[in-house]
Amino acid sequence: MERKIIYIQSEDDLALDTASEIMREGGLVAFPTETVYGLGADAFNARAVEDIFRAKGRPQDNPLIVHICDKDQIDELAFDIPDIAKELTEDFWPGPFTVILKKRPCVPDIVTAGLDTVAIRFPSNAFAHDLILKSGRFIAAPSANSSGRPSPTSAAHVKEDLMGKIPLIVDGGRCTVGVESTVCMFKGDRPVILRPGGITAEMIKDIAGRVEIHDAVLGDIIEEKPASPGMKYKHYAPKAEVEVFVGDEMSVAKEIDIRYNDYDAESIVFCLEGQKRLYTGKRVRSLGKDHAAAARTLFAALREADSEGIKKILFHGVSNEDEGLAVMNRIIRAAGHNVTIVPKEENIG
Ligand code: TXA
Ligand code: MG
Repeated sequence: MERKIIYIQSEDDLALDTASEIMREGGLVAFPTETVYGLGADAFNARAVEDIFRAKGRPQDNPLIVHICDKDQIDELAFDIPDIAKELTEDFWPGPFTVILKKRPCVPDIVTAGLDTVAIRFPSNAFAHDLILKSGRFIAAPSANSSGRPSPTSAAHVKEDLMGKIPLIVDGGRCTVGVESTVCMFKGDRPVILRPGGITAEMIKDIAGRVEIHDAVLGDIIEEKPASPGMKYKHYAPKAEVEVFVGDEMSVAKEIDIRYNDYDAESIVFCLEGQKRLYTGKRVRSLGKDHAAAARTLFAALREADSEGIKKILFHGVSNEDEGLAVMNRIIRAAGHNVTIVPKEENIG
């Protein structure tokens, strides 16, 4: 296939026709979803899936999510599905929710990195839905960034990373969720969040009555045999150094004030809109008014900082409630675990 990039708006009829044709021929398509852009290939075509790993420079031991467009298709890919998984997908699909289930033999090993489980998601984005339906294929798709870079939340981000490496980018505008889907596994009937996302722990708990958050979500990355292979890689890293500060608002602001001056002009503070007032006179980037807004803007803000030549990002930590957990999970990884827990002000000095 010719390695020339074509760029089409998702509303253009040509987009769906071209994308489905490439999908059926075993090619790669970058397409919008509600979370982040995906780099998709026919999940049952092992050679096509290999090309995904090559284009992204992704380690082969990190498995992919298979995207479906109908709830019943879950049974074609997985078996022994816990009742609670059915209940949760009934509520959260289509949407930013991925379940890890026992895989059927029809799913190629390259998709699951040799694991006996498969990750399945039914996205709500209309173009993603239509592409799966029209191509007649289940689509294996990681985020459409170069491995290790922040995930793409616009077609321009995909272009930055994959220009010249794939035959088609479909432009569907900005992603509405902005962080990748919530990845959930099951210990018997207990849901365990491996990666937090737009479907929050609180939402899962409301339905399941309980929810576990895997230690690696906010803790150390490295484990001999991680529950989710993606956990062990440093992710979302911009070129700038990232440092995260956690604690009560005033103590964090004071600490960031000291650290900011160490770096001065090439530093920027990332915080919520309501905290901007704490950083007058500094270069500051508001991520929006609440956690959902921060989730939506975080990856774009990291990429922008790079293009502005920022050397240091000082991140004013948010709470772990609702979408805050996903924001903290991503930024801690972007920071390579460079997290400072600031003691309460009266204890300083
Ligand atoms: O929102 C999303 O999920 C996006 C869009 C494109 O759908 N996709 C995405 O894919 O984020 P990716 O490949 O960037 O992240 C998939 C995550 C990785 O952390 C991977 O390790 C984990 O899901 N995963 C996949 N299969 C797994 C399995 N069988 N067991 C445990 N974790 C798995
Ligand atoms: Mg990814």
